[in-house]
Amino acid sequence: MELKSVRGMDDLFGEELLRWRRVEEIVRNVFSHFGFAEIRTPALEKIEVFSRTVGDATDIVEKQMYTLTDISKEQLVLRPEGTASFMRAVIEHQLHQLAGPQRFFYYLPMFRHERPQKGRLRQFHQFGAELIQDPSPEADAEMISLVDTLFRKVGLREFRVRLNSVGCGTCRPAYRELLVKYLKGHIDQLCEQCKLRLERAPLRVFDCKNESCKNITAAAPLIADNLCAACSGHHRRVQGSLHALRVPYENDPTIVRGLDYYTRSAFEFTSSALGSQDALGGGGRYDGLSAQFGKANFPGVGFAAGMERVMIALAAAGSSAMHESKPSAFLAPLGEKAFELLYKMSFELKRAGVFADLSYDREKGLKNLLKAADKRGAAWAVVVGDDELAKGKALIKEMKTGTQEEIPISEIPTYLQTRINRAP
Ligand code: HAM
Repeated sequence: MELKSVRGMDDLFGEELLRWRRVEEIVRNVFSHFGFAEIRTPALEKIEVFSRTVGDATDIVEKQMYTLTDISKEQLVLRPEGTASFMRAVIEHQLHQLAGPQRFFYYLPMFRHERPQKGRLRQFHQFGAELIQDPSPEADAEMISLVDTLFRKVGLREFRVRLNSVGCGTCRPAYRELLVKYLKGHIDQLCEQCKLRLERAPLRVFDCKNESCKNITAAAPLIADNLCAACSGHHRRVQGSLHALRVPYENDPTIVRGLDYYTRSAFEFTSSALGSQDALGGGGRYDGLSAQFGKANFPGVGFAAGMERVMIALAAAGSSAMHESKPSAFLAPLGEKAFELLYKMSFELKRAGVFADLSYDREKGLKNLLKAADKRGAAWAVVVGDDELAKGKALIKEMKTGTQEEIPISEIPTYLQTRINRAP
């Protein structure tokens, strides 16, 4: 029997894995610049962690969870998302008792039994962040700005930020009634699934891709027009902060999210490069989530992005993170003596963390060596020939600007290290 990987769960290796690692590194750096500390939770959780919090009537809980009963008859689930297990961990370790606000990030595999297609897998990877103990709209804008920065830093440009407010326990019940009444008036035009949604999760009708349902929701009452004063004030201030932070966004009243724990801000980042699964990431505020665990009550806001989808969008954009890594320095020897010196130096540099490439061809000549440095995409070329050796000096050329200077050979490693560390 030929054994293959489980459907919708991919192996990752070679160039593709290297590309992932480059993006992961950028993502980790941005999280750390924004003051987010990593948290890792187990892949298996008790089923109640998700059934209670993500919502009984959501696709995730209804039909996508990988559940298993272990040998001691405990019902467990392979984590379908990160926020509920994050909250379980925070409350279990009483992290919310520490001075807030606290900022955490995670980068973990998630599991959902969905129908696999481009950008939709059964094991996929999310990087996400959660900011807890702060109810202010500025925290929501911070989260959206963080995602915007992350996507830009990894090399994405063509994405849209869609923002909505899904209200709170005060305004949503009345809106829900209004929406159900409207939808019941058009029940014949709704698809079978939306007819079922009508009672259990009417807001999710906005997510339906069916043309007839879309026509009905196009004229439906919107939550944005039915917010209580506190929620609409909060929503206005989120938008004001986004303007102040110069994060472009658009209001989209159809963003309702597929998980039940959201209150107030809900947002999604989409990219047309992804096809029908166009969400790069999404998130929002979840002020009522902690209380569902019974022992605490504190606000939170967060997001998660799908790594596989980010990689698809990056490939479509021809991003530089997709290319082979380029050397910081290309060492160009003119003659045997210079080669011996640069050969040893190239390893010193590599050990010190500088990617230094060396031409093993010592008879290439200056012009061809500089051409090679250019082709490899090196930031600096270091040329040493007999003349330079005699003077104890090397010629360093910055490839982008063409400026060059002579420096003592002994200073080459420090020269390169300080400049590379300064590069953005
Ligand atoms: P979500 O919208 O369910 O939110 O997932 C976030 C992102 O994960 C999606 O936008 C998508 O990029 C990716 N994703 C979801 N399902 C799949 C799949 N089957 N295959 C590939 N990628 C997928 C959450 O999970 C929330 N926990 C986000 C959050 C954090 N809200 C507050 N804090």
